[in-house]
Amino acid sequence: MTILLTGSSRGIGAAIQAALTDAGASVIGHGTASGIPADFSDPDGPTALWNAALEQAGGTIDVLINNAGVFEAAALADDDWTAQWERTMRINLTASAELCRLAVLHWQARGVGGRIVNIASRAAYRGDSPAHWHYAASKAGMVAMTKTIARGYAREGILAFAVCPGFTMTGMAEDYLSSRGGDALLADIPLGRVAAPDEIAAAAKFLALEAPASMTGSVIDVNGASYVR
Ligand SMILES: NC(=O)c1ccc[n+]([C@@H]2O[C@H](COP(=O)([O-])OP(=O)(O)OC[C@H]3O[C@@H](n4cnc5c(N)ncnc54)[C@H](OP(=O)(O)O)[C@@H]3O)[C@@H](O)[C@H]2O)c1
Repeated sequence: MTILLTGSSRGIGAAIQAALTDAGASVIGHGTASGIPADFSDPDGPTALWNAALEQAGGTIDVLINNAGVFEAAALADDDWTAQWERTMRINLTASAELCRLAVLHWQARGVGGRIVNIASRAAYRGDSPAHWHYAASKAGMVAMTKTIARGYAREGILAFAVCPGFTMTGMAEDYLSSRGGDALLADIPLGRVAAPDEIAAAAKFLALEAPASMTGSVIDVNGASYVR
């Protein structure tokens, strides 16, 4: 079982890599600090990553996990608001879409099934702050794309799932909380704390390795009941 995991260098991606490796999967990672480097703000980045990963894998990738993403603020008054919109869309959505496309074509060419797990966000359903229109839209796009792939290719054994994390502690606690609104954010989470990366990893591992085929197209929320739908 060979898995291509984007954004494995830190945060949620590093936790997913650890969970999958513990489960015996072979993981091809991606990121600046570890794995295959590829910048998704560069339009050639996703294809370069796919080709390098395929070569490293010896020609077969069974599962694609799109986890790499950015959460960058863009104030409405910023002169470069549109450039920031396009940057977030490209890294979070377009790069994921291109990798999904290459994965589906790869599985179709081989006549085998495969699995896609897209790490979206609670923001896909709930929206985000006024400085994060682009982020919420990119994650909503990921969810819609996931469902489209699930519906389009299920008969070929190609399955697609999404995970929607809420706040997840990926940096130093203090920095992380202050960058997301401080104590106010905790008050909005019935569980009383943000998620740990290994909680998101548990959901991703389940979808990548174990989830029954009939679950294709589903979206798993991991947000401490801060948004229920
Ligand atoms: N943490 C949260 O609260 C939270 C909540 C909901 C959803 N999510 C989603 O979960 C995923 C992981 O988030 P995280 O908090 O673990 O993020 P993180 O700690 O900031 O790590 C981001 C990962 O994405 C990669 N990345 C960033 N910019 C990139 C670019 N231009 N090209 C290619 N790769 C790039 C990074 O690689 P480098 O090391 O090379 O920079 C890194 O591996 C993201 O999609 C995020 O939107 C996170």
